[in-house]
Amino acid sequence: MANMWAGRFKKEENKEVNDFNSSISFDSRMYKSDILGSIAHATMLGKQGIISKEDSELIIKTLSLILNDLDTGVLDFDYEAEDIHMFIEAELTKRIGDVGKKLHTARSRNDQVALDIRLHLKDEVEVIKSLICKLMNEIINLAEENKYTVMPGYTHLQRAQPITFANHLLAYAYMLKRDIERFDDAKKRMNYSPLGSCALAGTTYPIDRDFVASRLNFDGIVKNSLDGVSDRDFCVEIASACATLMMHLSRFSEEIILWSSWEFKFIDLDDAYSTGSSIMPQKKNPDICELIRGKTGRVYGNLNTLLVMLKGLPLAYNKDMQEDKEAIFDSLDTVKMCLSIFAPMLSTMKVNKDNMRRAAAKGFINATDLADYLVKKGMPFRDAYKISGTIVAYCIDENLTLEEVKLDIYKKYSNLFESDLYEAIDLEKATFRRTSKGASGIESVEAQIKDLRS
Ligand code: ARG
Repeated sequence: MANMWAGRFKKEENKEVNDFNSSISFDSRMYKSDILGSIAHATMLGKQGIISKEDSELIIKTLSLILNDLDTGVLDFDYEAEDIHMFIEAELTKRIGDVGKKLHTARSRNDQVALDIRLHLKDEVEVIKSLICKLMNEIINLAEENKYTVMPGYTHLQRAQPITFANHLLAYAYMLKRDIERFDDAKKRMNYSPLGSCALAGTTYPIDRDFVASRLNFDGIVKNSLDGVSDRDFCVEIASACATLMMHLSRFSEEIILWSSWEFKFIDLDDAYSTGSSIMPQKKNPDICELIRGKTGRVYGNLNTLLVMLKGLPLAYNKDMQEDKEAIFDSLDTVKMCLSIFAPMLSTMKVNKDNMRRAAAKGFINATDLADYLVKKGMPFRDAYKISGTIVAYCIDENLTLEEVKLDIYKKYSNLFESDLYEAIDLEKATFRRTSKGASGIESVEAQIKDLRS
């Protein structure tokens, strides 16, 4: 195909240069955004009398046919084209001749590509939000089933205090809720149309930028033409929201990996969501979680790619910016894939409540409750803390749990101890007594579920 800029050039483009320069292999996925943007532009050109009404209508009709042909696979992309914008324009001109050549009036690929990415990302954000919602739903359902499941809560990966599995799970639901907010927030700032910035300086044609913006459901226009074509902040923000989301999925994955080990056995992943080993017949591996944890690296990398690619760019458009697409698209693809597989993996996972309960019985996770018991009887917390610690040390020496120590021994440490101490350190009671807002107690967990469902 002869190049669009053949007029200025005396030589044909080198084949290798064409391949190096080309982005259609990865920007073809924006075909719909490109065509919808062009339809809005052509409508505006007709309305403003920049091209005739008939030409505008013919362009719009033909673009719709091209969209349909691409949707249905009747038309294939030409991978010799430089990018999706050139391909669509060439196809239009192939179909309607000279009229097709009028579409690019008062427009540049610089504002066109800036528009296309925004339109594309707006749609993608909605897909990702709904996938996050689905995952949140699974987490909340699982929490609902585990309101009474007692497990050890950890700090420093050491058994710390008793919690319910529900409360542990809901922590992830709140992380995901913030992720949705982050995507929404990024979308809000991205929702301004750059079209009409043209190459960088705007245009002498009497265009109506606000009309195009409202046609494409933007909240308004980008108010500076140079900013319109050089801004990729929205890619950085979406990539950053993707990175934070992956960080959450990765932390969750890490816990599932731990929980499914023989050392914990808190959960069993469904066979359909695990893999075996090619040599060790006994193995059942949490590959999905490991891959999610691993893929987090590339999503962080994509954010870095974008930040570094942009850092030294002078205004306005530079071809470096073509590198934005593979990075942001890879983040979107990875996030969508990970979210889609996480939800069914959770819903099919078996929770070994008895093992969780057994683990909670070891490690003196009711030592704080023993101290709180003495505080309730009037002792200052620091003194109570010290006595409880001394009793724990005694238990370690004697190989006892706090529940197994006899009352007369307790009395040697403090005469405030009475037989009701055993109720105070009862694991279930200690867990469900934590009724402060956000705690593991039933009421708090139910309030969190209600809050999240709404
Ligand atoms: N494929 C290009 C990109 O993704 C489109 C814009 C090209 N503009 C230009 N002046 N060469 O950035």
